[in-house]
Formats: sequence, C-alpha cells, structure tokens
Amino acid sequence: MTEAVEAQASLEAELKDEILRMYQEVADNPRSEFHFYHGREAAELFDYPADWLDRAPAEAVASFAGVGNPHLRSDLKPGETVLDLGSGAGLDSIVAGWQVGPTGSVIGVDLNPAMCRKAQTNAAAAGTSMDCRSGSMEDIPLPDASVDVALSNGVINLSFRKRRVIEELFRVLRPGGRLSITDIVSAKQLSQSIVNDPKLWAS
Ligand SMILES: C[S@@+](CC[C@H](N)C(=O)[O-])C[C@H]1O[C@@H](n2cnc3c(N)ncnc32)[C@H](O)[C@@H]1O
Repeated sequence: MTEAVEAQASLEAELKDEILRMYQEVADNPRSEFHFYHGREAAELFDYPADWLDRAPAEAVASFAGVGNPHLRSDLKPGETVLDLGSGAGLDSIVAGWQVGPTGSVIGVDLNPAMCRKAQTNAAAAGTSMDCRSGSMEDIPLPDASVDVALSNGVINLSFRKRRVIEELFRVLRPGGRLSITDIVSAKQLSQSIVNDPKLWAS
C-alpha cells in the first residue's frame, strides 16, 4: 500500500467509528446537544405532517436525524417494495410502511446493527413492519433489480465513495424504479482540515 492509500484507509476507518458513535448517541440520548437539527424539531422543519409525527412512536421521532423529507417526492403506492438506505431509528421506513401497506414491503439498510434492531422495534410499535439488514451503502445487501423505490435521508454525504453508492442504488432498483434522496452538498470545496476531520464529516 502506498502512504496515500494507507492514510485514506485509516481516515475511512476513523470516520466509520465516528459515524457509528455519533448516530448511536442520537438514538440512545436524543435529548443531548448535537450541532445539527434532529428529532421532532427537524421533522417539522422539513414538513413532515404533524399527524405522522403524532402517530409514530416517540422514540423514532426523537431519534430522527434526517436532513430533509424524501416523502415529498416519493409517491409511494400500495404494494411497492421500498429500500430505506441508512434507515437509522426508522422514521422514514415507518412512514413508507404505512404508505405501501400490507401488500408492500420496506427494507432498511444500516451500517449499525443496533440501529437496525431499534428501527424494527419502532416499526412494529407503529403497526407496520420492516426488514432491516445491517450492511453498507457501498455494498447494498440486496439482489439486482429488487426494489421499486429507494429512499435515503442524510446518509450518502457520509460516504467516501459516493459514486459507488449511486451505482449500487441503480443496481438494486427495478427498471422504471424511483429514487427519492434528501442529502446535503457543499457548494464550495471544503478545506483539507475539514475533509480530514472525522467528527465534522460524520455530522
Ligand atoms: C444522519 S443518520 C440518518 C438516519 C435516518 N435516515 C434518519 O433520517 O433519521 C445516518 C445513518 O446512516 C447510517 N450509515 C452511515 N454510514 C453508512 C454506510 N456506509 N452504510 C449504511 N448506513 C450508514 C448511520 O448508521 C445512521 O443510522
């Protein structure tokens, strides 16, 4: 390995640890201070209807860490199969489950197995169900052409390999499938000191 490749691998490993730590903290202690919007305050800011937030389990709402509202454009229909990439505590999966109904299905994928367990518990408490697989967005643990719609909220910005994530999304989508992604982008090149700081990248 060259020095540059080693440095990149070590930064990626540090980032992965920081991502696991930070979003676990949002799930375990949602009332702690974070320097990003989260919970009900964030969901209201992104126009999630109050009746969804009242109906969803309080834990799923409190641990919401999305950056927008992928449901504004997802146009989910009963019977569809939906992927929620980076499903976190499961609020978007729950909303998707309500929309696709008992003839549809929702599959979450999250790097953190504890988040997957939490999301499934929250989905059951919301009267819907999801199958959450712990895995990585860079190698989505699903077969080719297996989902109708892929949602993702605040996740792809965390990857070092964004092109790979998009290729994976297109691989798992059925022909004619749809993507509804909300995420953050920077309009200007960030300084190396920001890019190389796992804490800043993870949040
Ligand atoms: C900002 S949170 C968003 C969670 C959820 N989408 C929401 O709106 O509340 C990012 C989530 O992505 C997951 N994640 C981070 N990197 C990932 C990766 N490489 N593959 C899959 N999930 C990842 C984290 O574990 C965390 O649950």
